[in-house]
Amino acid sequence: MAPRKITEGVFSVGAIDWDRRLFDSLIPLPFGTSYNAYLVQGESKTALLDAVEPALQKDLFANLDELGVKSIDYVVCHHAEQDHSGSIPAVLERFPGARVVTNQKCADLLVSHLRIDSSACDIVADGAVLDLGGKSLQFTFAPWVHWPETMLSFLREDRILFTCDFLGSHLATGMLYADDEHSVYLSAKRYYAEIMMPFRGRYPAYLQKIEAMAPAIIAPSHGPIYRRPAFILDAYKDWTSDHVKNEAVIGYVSMHGSTKIMVDRLVDRLVGAGVNVKQFDLATVDIGELAMALVDPATLVLATPTVLGGPHPAAVYAAYLASAIKPKLRHAAIIGSQGWGGKTVDTLKSLLAGLKVEMLEPLMSKGLPKPEDLAGIDKLAEAIQARHAALG
Ligand code: FEO
Repeated sequence: MAPRKITEGVFSVGAIDWDRRLFDSLIPLPFGTSYNAYLVQGESKTALLDAVEPALQKDLFANLDELGVKSIDYVVCHHAEQDHSGSIPAVLERFPGARVVTNQKCADLLVSHLRIDSSACDIVADGAVLDLGGKSLQFTFAPWVHWPETMLSFLREDRILFTCDFLGSHLATGMLYADDEHSVYLSAKRYYAEIMMPFRGRYPAYLQKIEAMAPAIIAPSHGPIYRRPAFILDAYKDWTSDHVKNEAVIGYVSMHGSTKIMVDRLVDRLVGAGVNVKQFDLATVDIGELAMALVDPATLVLATPTVLGGPHPAAVYAAYLASAIKPKLRHAAIIGSQGWGGKTVDTLKSLLAGLKVEMLEPLMSKGLPKPEDLAGIDKLAEAIQARHAALG
């Protein structure tokens, strides 16, 4: 992808990864992603803001060549994860003398992850300003979006805020700007759910700081750029708020149909009671879809048969994932079936313990659900509906 001008002397020079379908060998990328890097040319100094995934460094260098860049004074590193920092060693080799501008924590990670020489780093403090001549970058530390060293930089004269991972989206698109807000919203929400949600408690303060800066443009390192910052800031305010929706996510696995009978009954009763339901077959689900569905709801229900004395492995995976991404759930329930016994409920309860939610009464049917099992499901639906109503 050719370099693209954002404002005078500011260019997008990163790479688009159209074909990538998995991140961290974990996260599905149905729409690919991008590794955005930015070039800021001041009157006296030139800065490259972040680099790209090493596999695509040729795209970064082709963009710099196309712009006729002969020297780089500073490589600003907002975040040490390798999809942004992995090409920094190659940049330093190509532009000898370039200084890596970052914070101490990030420098330490660059040394340990990439073997970058610490003497190549200029350490900045929170609030420090890097003068490029007529353009200046001010740094704001924003730890845990989503690593401990992350920071933002604000190009004050152009009012462009570079947020690296924060506020990004895994979306490969030829559009520089996020003007197609509907499609970007879904990609940004999926990205938030998978990567950012575990740290959501920190974000309201960051969002306030960003609003106080009044950026005209927010330029993340994944996905398109926001020239209507309120779009993504409002979305984050909603996702990170403590407000939960009158929704229940039901993740289920069924081997011979018994668990599915219980799920069907529960869905029917919840929908009848006015609770919005999102149902996922955990044997085939895209875990990104499941993660995204967990951003808003008040309740999670896991439904599983008993296999080899415990929950189906797909239910174990879902419980572990839900616990790891820390959604703002208030309630959870476990239902399912068993042939003769097992520790299904105990195992799932322990996997979900990190969620700190109210665990509703579990319900396991022995073989095909009997009328009393289905009556128990009806009671569970009533309990969920009542709790949602109490939340307002
Ligand atoms: Fe896009 Fe945390 O790296």
